[in-house]
Amino acid sequence: MNTLDKFKKYMITEFLSEVAPIVADHAEGATLTDAAGKTYVDAFAGISVCNAGHNNPEVVAAARAQLGKLVHCGTYLLPHAPAADLAELLAEITPTTSQPGAAVPHRLSKSFFGNSGAEANEAAMRLAKQFTGKHGFIALDGAFHGRTLATLSISGLPSRKRGGGPYMPDVSFLPAPYCYRCALGLKPESCNLACAAALEEKINFAKHSGVAALFVEPVQGEGGIIVPPKGWFAAIKKILDLHGVLLVADEVQTGFGRTGHMFAIEAEGVEPDIITLGKGIADGFPLSAMVTRPDIAAAFHPGDHLSTFGGNPVCCAAALATIHFYQRENLPAQAARKGAWLIGELRRRLENNPRVGEVRGRGLMIGVELVERAVPGAPCAPPSALNHAAPAPDAAFAKKIVKDCRERGVLIGLGGRDGNVLRIQPPLVINDAQLAQVADTLAAVLTTP
Ligand SMILES: Cc1ncc(COP(=O)(O)O)c(C=O)c1O
Repeated sequence: MNTLDKFKKYMITEFLSEVAPIVADHAEGATLTDAAGKTYVDAFAGISVCNAGHNNPEVVAAARAQLGKLVHCGTYLLPHAPAADLAELLAEITPTTSQPGAAVPHRLSKSFFGNSGAEANEAAMRLAKQFTGKHGFIALDGAFHGRTLATLSISGLPSRKRGGGPYMPDVSFLPAPYCYRCALGLKPESCNLACAAALEEKINFAKHSGVAALFVEPVQGEGGIIVPPKGWFAAIKKILDLHGVLLVADEVQTGFGRTGHMFAIEAEGVEPDIITLGKGIADGFPLSAMVTRPDIAAAFHPGDHLSTFGGNPVCCAAALATIHFYQRENLPAQAARKGAWLIGELRRRLENNPRVGEVRGRGLMIGVELVERAVPGAPCAPPSALNHAAPAPDAAFAKKIVKDCRERGVLIGLGGRDGNVLRIQPPLVINDAQLAQVADTLAAVLTTP
């Protein structure tokens, strides 16, 4: 029986039915080779994970060296150097709005280590409750924070939540700053950030439980690469501070250079109270972190919260090498340059394509929203009574495009509330020729009738 048949027979998993799966064999940088020997430009990086490139030699060497010393000891029982060094490094690089030279320049300086993004967010939820003494949460429509019961409860994607309820009570959702399909029916040039202002109402209506925290992805990933407009974060932070509600920045997907900054929130001029990290932290080794201020961290008493494998020495060693690589190669700046080129190129080549609603993104976190064919110049079909006439989403077409790209040797992802957003999130080390291949392939498959 071949690998694919074994997967189908013995594993609980799912494939996009329209996209014939390939069996991954080996990978390097932004190139992945399947079991049949065909090579692909991997423009999705294992769901936005291998930011330093597949099989980065420095990361692999660091992990190998640690493998020969200590694989596991239970980080919360026996302290070890890789976890201590990683926590110190995170405290040095976490986002801060403090002025250089300030007495406490990095306020987010205490880390909890887990294995997955969901586990980091679970930790943040519990800590926020223990610190504030409140138990309500607010999240955004279209948000994705993981697939455990609690993190699904604060996820705003019905497709991901199907069949898993009932979910946690005392969670409410704020309209996302999704300007292409504004839930309030407003236009960005005249909306006065009404979606951010709506936060105050949400907090007021949750007075019975109190709101411990607002969870936000600085750029929504699974929700379809939703980039908030300028000023949105500042507006919500002002309201949160007024009401004593914590801001949790879920940087599981946006962190570690992806959007052109080490952390996406750095572009917003606000400092979160808690930041959650995963995916790119160790270039593919399973590790996550929740990082917060010492005063908030103190709400966890010894033994309150731990994870058997969390902070595994091999994963921490890999993370240290990964972050040093990001810093030395200045990968955030590379992502900014490469992403600006690709977004510009896709906009230029697709601007008159009636199936492309919007090309958007930040750094190498890029979305192409596909819509039903709209006759140029004719009014578009409004998907909701309120919406200002964005054309209807076309998920079937998006799946076909993912398949066509794959057949032509380019791997891309899919997301969006309606499954109609192509996601381009390659390793940040992708080279210019590979980037051009991604642009050429997308332009070709999107213009082929
Ligand atoms: C923003 C965000 N948070 C949390 C998660 C969950 O991470 P994990 O799958 O590692 O639990 C994801 C995964 O896609 C994510 O994109």
